[in-house]
Amino acid sequence: MSAGGTGATEYEPLGPRHVAIIMDGNGRWAANRGLSPSAGHKAGVERIRDLIEACKARQIEVLTLFAFSSENWQRPPAEVELLMTLFHSYLRREARKMHEQGVRLRVIGRRDRFSQRLQRAIAEAEALTREGTSGTLVIAADYGGRWDIAQAARLLAEEVARGERSAESIDDVALGERVQLADLPPVDLLIRSSGEQRISNFILWQAAYSEFYFTETLWPDFDTNELDLALDAYQRRDRRFGGRNPGGLEAQA
Ligand code: IPE
Ligand code: IPE
Ligand code: MG
Repeated sequence: MSAGGTGATEYEPLGPRHVAIIMDGNGRWAANRGLSPSAGHKAGVERIRDLIEACKARQIEVLTLFAFSSENWQRPPAEVELLMTLFHSYLRREARKMHEQGVRLRVIGRRDRFSQRLQRAIAEAEALTREGTSGTLVIAADYGGRWDIAQAARLLAEEVARGERSAESIDDVALGERVQLADLPPVDLLIRSSGEQRISNFILWQAAYSEFYFTETLWPDFDTNELDLALDAYQRRDRRFGGRNPGGLEAQA
């Protein structure tokens, strides 16, 4: 962000409206302490409450958290089971608090592979918090970016089959309207903890112009200060979206 060479205008750059986080590193955090991955997952869940508060205080409208990928079913059964139990108890415990805070909860992902009990808890938490107007928390669970794009394509194919639209009318706008998060502001900032620098099948479509921020910090150590470091880095980015900033290359230098 540069105001150009004149120095006449000082902009206060806008912060991100939508932050997404790949919460990675629970296993390594636990291993560093001689504990099982479960202990890391439990410690990781504890980070979320403060983060929601911090996002609200920083006028971030949407926080999207990657909690369980469509590939995470490949983990040992006991770990998967523990993650499901943690998700269920999190919803039961936190939905009421979110409701009181005015935070709306949404879960994105497949759902049908979850137990009936967990599916019910998700539906109830979403229903309870539906009217919230002071921020949105999105939890991506059994979510995969490829699944997301495929389900959007399927919706379009069904519309064509019903004669509601032509195949020729399908473009990036039509598909983009049918992926998850389409009704929310675009993901401005995508954070991944734990030092891995990959997307691991998270929001493939939606991250087309997100700013990426990687930190070595393991998820159970990711506190408000870490969030602020990511936000500081974001403020220094120059988002061009393929275009050129006013002032051209000199202003970008
Ligand atoms: C992220 O922590 C949580 C989930 C994938 C559910 P990991 O369990 O992947 O932690 P590491 O990568 O093994 O340290
Ligand atoms: C991505 O982390 C999924 C979540 C954080 C929920 P993984 O630990 O599953 O990703 P890989 O296996 O290192 O790519
Ligand atoms: Mg991992």
